[in-house]
Amino acid sequence: MTDQAIAAKAAPPPNLYVARVESVRHYTDRLFSFTCERPAGLRFRSGEFVMIGLMSGERPLLRAYSIASPAWDDRLAFYSIKAPDGPLTSRLQNIQSGDEILIGRKPTGTLVLDALTPGKRLFLLSTGTGIAPFASLIREPETYARYDQVILTHTCRFAPELDYGREIVAEAAADPLVGEEAAAKLRHITSLTRQSHELEGRITALIGDGALFSALGGPVFDPASDRIMICGSAPMLHDLKAIALELGFTEGSNHEPGSFVVERAFAS
Ligand code: A2P
Repeated sequence: MTDQAIAAKAAPPPNLYVARVESVRHYTDRLFSFTCERPAGLRFRSGEFVMIGLMSGERPLLRAYSIASPAWDDRLAFYSIKAPDGPLTSRLQNIQSGDEILIGRKPTGTLVLDALTPGKRLFLLSTGTGIAPFASLIREPETYARYDQVILTHTCRFAPELDYGREIVAEAAADPLVGEEAAAKLRHITSLTRQSHELEGRITALIGDGALFSALGGPVFDPASDRIMICGSAPMLHDLKAIALELGFTEGSNHEPGSFVVERAFAS
């Protein structure tokens, strides 16, 4: 870039960091992940989300994204859909290593361990890109310190959409910090809704008919000892939240921990 071009480039506002993209991986024509360097001052708790984006003319174009890497990592990871008409994702899907992206200075969110009261089994229920915050939490040592079992469920429409989840589970198992505990405590249950698979159907249906617990070989939900985190589309959250409340779970927040927490998978 020439000196003139650099000078002409609009400067990002001071409430944003600029970070360099390190790697990009495309899974399907609708899904990709990328990593970038972690700004030195960025603090967050595993499971939180942050605003990220690109400059659009003079202005930043930002969307909320769950951070898919754990709080201790010196790299940030994200998992995104590619929406052809999405103002941000239509551009973000073309980023390459070496490009710059904008990152907000204030990560936040409710899918954090502190928003849950102590329990024995932790269920991380996700659909689609809603698995992203759980990619962070399954590499967080505190997750395994607090729970005897960690059950990650991922439901998608078609088989290739499960690849990212398989990869992050394999990464957790190979991670020197949490690998041993992940191998002993982490279960990964996948289901598909529009293609044949070992386990078929929406997570709501699998809870309703008990297929989730049969697949696990464990007891059905018990609000006394199970804790649940939920992340997916708005209709998925709505339906799962209703089920959790019906079963006697109480919704937690940063101010008042409970037995389940929910967060929308943002990118659209
Ligand atoms: P389905 O194929 O039956 O719609 P999406 O890409 O639309 O977010 O969907 C991701 C996954 O979430 C799909 O398997 C989809 O199932 C499922 N899903 C969609 N709506 C709900 C809901 N209200 N409750 C549970 N799962 C849902």
